[in-house]
Formats: sequence, structure tokens, C-alpha cells
Amino acid sequence: MNTPKIKVGVLGATGAVGQRFVQMLQGHPWFEISALCASERSMGKRYADACNWNLRGDMPAHLRDVILEEAVPGMDVQIFFSALPSDAAREKEQELAAGGHIVCSNASAHRYDDDVPLLIPEVNPEHLGLIDIQQQRRGWSGFITTNPNCSTTHLVSALHPLHTAFGIRKLFVVTMQAVSGAGYPGVSSMDILDNIVPYIGKEEEKMEKREPQKLLGQFNGHSVEMADFVVSAHCNRVPVRNGHLEAVSVEFDRAPSLNEIREAWHSYKPLAQQLNLPSAPQPALIYREEQDRPQPRLDRLAGSVPGMTTVIGRLREDPLFHAKFLVLGHNTIRGAAGGSLLNAELLVARGYLGAEAAALVGAAQMA
Ligand SMILES: NC(=O)c1ccc[n+]([C@@H]2O[C@H](COP(=O)([O-])OP(=O)(O)OC[C@H]3O[C@@H](n4cnc5c(N)ncnc54)[C@H](OP(=O)(O)O)[C@@H]3O)[C@@H](O)[C@H]2O)c1
Repeated sequence: MNTPKIKVGVLGATGAVGQRFVQMLQGHPWFEISALCASERSMGKRYADACNWNLRGDMPAHLRDVILEEAVPGMDVQIFFSALPSDAAREKEQELAAGGHIVCSNASAHRYDDDVPLLIPEVNPEHLGLIDIQQQRRGWSGFITTNPNCSTTHLVSALHPLHTAFGIRKLFVVTMQAVSGAGYPGVSSMDILDNIVPYIGKEEEKMEKREPQKLLGQFNGHSVEMADFVVSAHCNRVPVRNGHLEAVSVEFDRAPSLNEIREAWHSYKPLAQQLNLPSAPQPALIYREEQDRPQPRLDRLAGSVPGMTTVIGRLREDPLFHAKFLVLGHNTIRGAAGGSLLNAELLVARGYLGAEAAALVGAAQMA
């Protein structure tokens, strides 16, 4: 007998990230959409009428007539994927988690709460230990997990094996971020065409002080001890549709050779890949040897699960720090919807959805 799929809902289903959720959930082996939600502007409308679908391919036909509704506790949904703006996410995600639902969020509202995991399955799966603490402290039967912002996701994915092997002391990063990172309709064409906007609200603070240190921090059984390194970030919006490119310089506790750095990336096979989670790309990281790669248009969909791999290139010695290189990743796939989706798959694999769901994992591992 087939194990029934896990019912999921999408919050913010009409937006840039919400549409990615809908696209990535189509045909998912473990999850099926049972609710689509958006703001008051869209509630009560058909998804096809309220959503200006702007992804390649058509909106899934079976969802066109689904009526957008308000997300409320008690709905027939086990996991809510949240693509809400941060101010709307704060209360709504809490309300749903208190009501027994699992919330996998892209929003920044709860990323920095002491008892909420900020998660990249390849990097810090042990931070799931915060879930018990969150539930005990807040008296919730559900819980919230979050994924980092889109530029931090790819930066930290590339840094993780290097931090483990050599210890990061400080790093300098300049981002070149795609327009889809600002949502839909996002940055006006008059502002971005023939231009670069050297400011993205709150992005540098997230990258410098909050997210990399939490992601690479140690879970001590009660809380996460922040990793101890300094980040300097310059964040820029560039006229690229999808894919954030980041120029990174790093100083380590122990200076590795360039070959040791390359080898750390090549040999990287973290838990999500070992578990063969459906959205885990094989490999997690790709290093390109060409002088002029990675490039957003050519490399943003690299990997066995398109858009889920972080692509690295141009490793060289750095006259100021120890090493410098380029990192590229898709912002609305791995940097947003795909990141949450992989978090949810890890939750299933780690038993947070109960025994019945475990059968789904066994099937994936045999595939
Ligand atoms: N874009 C990226 O690359 C990216 C990457 C990582 C994280 N994020 C985060 O993901 C979240 C969504 O970003 P986005 O780019 O998809 O934004 P977006 O395109 O502006 O979409 C926002 C969505 O939220 C809904 N919404 C707005 N206000 C609401 C409210 N008060 N109550 C319920 N629903 C509401 C909108 O519905 P209506 O259509 O009805 O207005 C729409 O579906 C944000 O927190 C963002 O910071 C985005």
C-alpha cells in the first residue's frame, strides 16, 4: 500500500518565492499542496486570477481553480511553507505553530530567535535540537524552522567545509544580487536597467552580524553558540533576473593551500546528500575550473536538482587575506523555496512528522 503524501500549504503563494514553492512541489514524492494562501487582496480569488505567474512553464493546471484562503490553525495541513513578507510572517507563523502546524519559513521574522533553527541541511542539521527547546519554552505543539536569506545561503554553503577544516577568522564579501531577490514586481525597470543599485535594505546587517555566525555556530544542547568570525559585506542589486554572484575573500585560522581548499569542496558529502533527500543536489557544491565562471545565466541551474547547487569558481590567493573566490547560487530556488523544502525533507527524515512519514524516506534511500 502506498504511504499517503504529507499535506502542505503555501503562505504567500502568489509572490516570487510562493510561485517557486508551487513549482517545486509539483510532483514532489512526499508532499502535496492542500492549501494556497495569500493576502486579503487575493483571498477568495482563484489562484489563476490572483497570481501573475512569471516562471518558465505553466502554472500547474490542477491548481488554477484553487481558491486562495486565509491560513488558520486547524486546517488540513501538516507543513506550511511561508513566503510571507517579514512583518506579516511574525504573528501568522507563531499562530500556526502554536496551533500544531510545522512552519518552514523563508521570512526573516524568526530567524534570529534563540530557540528557532536557522537551517541549511548540509551545514547545521544538529540545530534541529532547538525544536524541543522552542516547543517547551513556548508551549507549542507545532514549531517554526527558518532558512537564511538568499545570499547568505550560498555564501555559507561554500564556506562550511572550509570553516570545518581551517577555521574562518574573517571574511569580506561583495554581492551582485538578482532583481528577483526583491520579490515581484520588485525593483522598477527604470531603476535597474543600465544600472547597479548599491544598496539592499537590511541585507548587509543580516550577512555581517546575524546569519553566518548562527549557521556555523555550535549547538550545545540548549542554544547555539555563535561562530566567532568577522564579516564585512557590500550588497548590490544588479540587472540580472535570477542568481546571486558573490566575490569572497577569506582569512583562516590556519592558512590552507589552494589545493587543500579545492579538495575540501570536492570531498564534501554532507548528511542531506547521504540521506538522498529528494531536493538534495548531488553534489552539494560544484567547483568550476574555467577563468570566467560561474556566471548567473550559465550556472544558476547547475546540479542534479536544478538551482539547488552552489557553484564556486576563480579560487586564487588573496593579497589581503588568504584566499578569494566567486560563489553563485539561485536565489529563489536554493536561496528561498528550495531551501525551505529541503529543510522540510530533513524534518521528515529526522522523524519530526512521525512514523508514517518515515516510510517515505526509506523509499527515497532505496531509489
Ligand atoms: N525573492 C527572493 O529571492 C527571496 C529569497 C529569500 C527569502 N525571501 C523572503 O521570502 C518572503 C517572500 O518574498 P517574495 O520575494 O516572494 O515577496 P513577494 O513577491 O512580494 O510576495 C509576497 C507574498 O506574500 C503575500 N502577502 C503580502 N502581505 C501579506 C499579508 N499581510 N498576509 C498574507 N499574505 C501576504 C502576497 O500576497 P498578495 O499577492 O495577495 O499580495 C504574496 O503572495 C519575504 O520574507 C522575503 O524576504 C525572498
